[in-house]
Amino acid sequence: MEIKKVGIIGTGTMGLGIAHVCAQAGYEVVAVKATPGPVEKPKAQLDKGFARLVERGKLEAAEKDAILARVTVTDNEAAVADCDLVIESIIEDIETKKALFKRLDARCREDTLLTTNTSTLSVTAMMAVCSKRDRIAGLHFFNPAAVMKLVEIIHGFETSEETLTSLEVFCKKVKKDPVVVQDTTGFIVNRLLTPYMLNAIRMLERGTGTIEDIDHAMKSGAAHPMGPFELADYIGLDVVEAMSMNIYTDVRHEHHAPPHTLTRLVQLGYLGRKTGKGFYDYSQKPPVQNSQLVRPVV
Ligand code: 3HC
Repeated sequence: MEIKKVGIIGTGTMGLGIAHVCAQAGYEVVAVKATPGPVEKPKAQLDKGFARLVERGKLEAAEKDAILARVTVTDNEAAVADCDLVIESIIEDIETKKALFKRLDARCREDTLLTTNTSTLSVTAMMAVCSKRDRIAGLHFFNPAAVMKLVEIIHGFETSEETLTSLEVFCKKVKKDPVVVQDTTGFIVNRLLTPYMLNAIRMLERGTGTIEDIDHAMKSGAAHPMGPFELADYIGLDVVEAMSMNIYTDVRHEHHAPPHTLTRLVQLGYLGRKTGKGFYDYSQKPPVQNSQLVRPVV
């Protein structure tokens, strides 16, 4: 199956990052805003991402215009009907995703590949509501999508080999390194990364070290580009909590349950970088650890 036109549902951080990567690789892209609000905002964000590349001398201004000309941003979901590949990147809620897959199954051609960028939810559960299941799979990008090389291709229960092969070819065309993973909660990366971040939070709660000390130790001692708290704030604490709950719901081991401090921060709306505060306070330059968390909270 040759992919020429890609539909992306959801224009949040990941949806726009994936749109950026696909358009830059030469694909025609339809990006659908899934929540209410003007489409001008995601259009401007996309423009800003490419403008940054022009400023840094990594892209010619004319190339930027040509790339953006390949992208349509709309709030009309029906616009993906003639796409060869659809990647959903909407809210991490299984019922909302299942309802979307049901509509896409009815709306798109029989040979359109329908994929999800879910971080931890079951691809097979989304597949189950579709009539033609062999063309359903996961296509899990990492944040920031323009930079991170890996894409996990998730093999759902009835995904065909032909679908997996087409997705591998697609990933290589968008200059990513794909790995095929069986459909288990959290796949490879999030199944390892989520408990790692939860353990760091429990370590903070035990008073082993401060946020800055723990981050410093993992950057300096394990060569991670970000420490666990910087990473959690970067991903978004609501997303980290949701990943934790999804893995906990599957595994039923308290090791995977969200720690107290994470739940409290999410309840207070301190979701990390996107809200200006999480484990760090981003109103300070450079950011400093959240003063409310200097003492252990449990
Ligand atoms: N969009 C596009 N490009 C970006 C970018 C963005 N949002 N952020 C950074 N970049 C580019 C910069 O332009 C720069 O490119 P250059 O070297 O060609 O000039 C390069 O990335 C490095 O950026 P910076 O110098 O500004 O910053 P750093 O060197 O500190 O790198 C980072 C930033 C790439 C985010 C690095 O800190 C990193 O790799 N962090 C770990 C990220 C990670 O682990 N992501 C996975 C999260 S898990 C996930 O996504 C799963 C999901 O399901 C939750």
